[in-house]
Amino acid sequence: MMKGFKKWRLFALLTALSIFLAGCGQQELSTLLPAGEVASDQFFLLLWSSGIMLFVILVVVIIYVVALIRFRRSKLGEDHIPEQVEGSSTLELVWTVIPILLVLLLAVPTVYYTYKLGNVSAMGEVDEDGNAENLVVDVTAKLYWWEFDYPQLGVTTAQELIVPLDEKVYFNLVAADVKHSFWIPAVGGKLDNNVENVNKFYLSFEKDSRDLDEGVFFGKCAELCGPSHALMDFKVKTLPRDEFDDWVLAMQDTEAVTADADSADQGEALFAESCIACHAVSGAGDPDYMGVEHAGAVGPNLTTFGDRNRVAGFMDHDEESLKNWIEDTQKYKPGNLMPSFTDFTDEEMDALTGYLMGLTIEE
Ligand code: CUA
Repeated sequence: MMKGFKKWRLFALLTALSIFLAGCGQQELSTLLPAGEVASDQFFLLLWSSGIMLFVILVVVIIYVVALIRFRRSKLGEDHIPEQVEGSSTLELVWTVIPILLVLLLAVPTVYYTYKLGNVSAMGEVDEDGNAENLVVDVTAKLYWWEFDYPQLGVTTAQELIVPLDEKVYFNLVAADVKHSFWIPAVGGKLDNNVENVNKFYLSFEKDSRDLDEGVFFGKCAELCGPSHALMDFKVKTLPRDEFDDWVLAMQDTEAVTADADSADQGEALFAESCIACHAVSGAGDPDYMGVEHAGAVGPNLTTFGDRNRVAGFMDHDEESLKNWIEDTQKYKPGNLMPSFTDFTDEEMDALTGYLMGLTIEE
């Protein structure tokens, strides 16, 4: 008796815990808290299909329990022969029609949304003046970081995707090395970044990221791509249209920016010596994207490094993390392509990280 009671207590505890946990979920990362039309459509499909499946399970369990209780041998006796239903057309009709209905209820919305969410026909549309109707972002996934090119605007950024609020944004997805997958859990997805073809889809961002705890949505790589797959994160900032336009202008304004090896700023001089071969500090220019090879830049564009939310996609955004990262990149992100720099003096490292943290286009 006591044993049964203990089991029941454990069961109750687990039930309470799962209900409690179901209420959790970070707004910036949760599929269960959709922040846009695409995410809402997908969330509806999730609830709809789960609901139907739950309904089927419930009905089956109820019938099973009823049969178990009503038709016990101890109740009906050893020789009881139940009513024979072989060839009953009523029963056969019932258990054929109900599953067909359920399959239809699952299939019709699924097919509808599959076509709706996969429809990118508006991607290349232009208005009377020849201007593109919709923003297009080319996403190149690399081991283990993300490049975002805005071909219509001549702007390139990395690790942080900036998008206008309440608009459809169309994406071209490719990978530079191995297969990755582009996923912003709260906003929709996911879709593979392949090496051999371009995948296209759209998302719409309908929540201001500044209302979130960290001011950004979290993006993830959702395809096992190597030892640092789990660390292949990016962030998404959503801005009202006018602020987005300001951001674009500020990015275009960085066109002539570069690092000068003769600069009085020791950090800038060091950057020009050691880093500029792989990392650009101008976000403007014609992004090399849909060419023969998806080359793009060797390393992430650092134009807005000081405005970012993370170092290397997942470390705290402070000089201490940045120093640790530069000195031993393989320790923090095994298999990534950036070499470690161990020859800087403390003074040089201070200057370099100071310079990097000062790379900003926000006032
Ligand atoms: Cu890229 Cu996993």
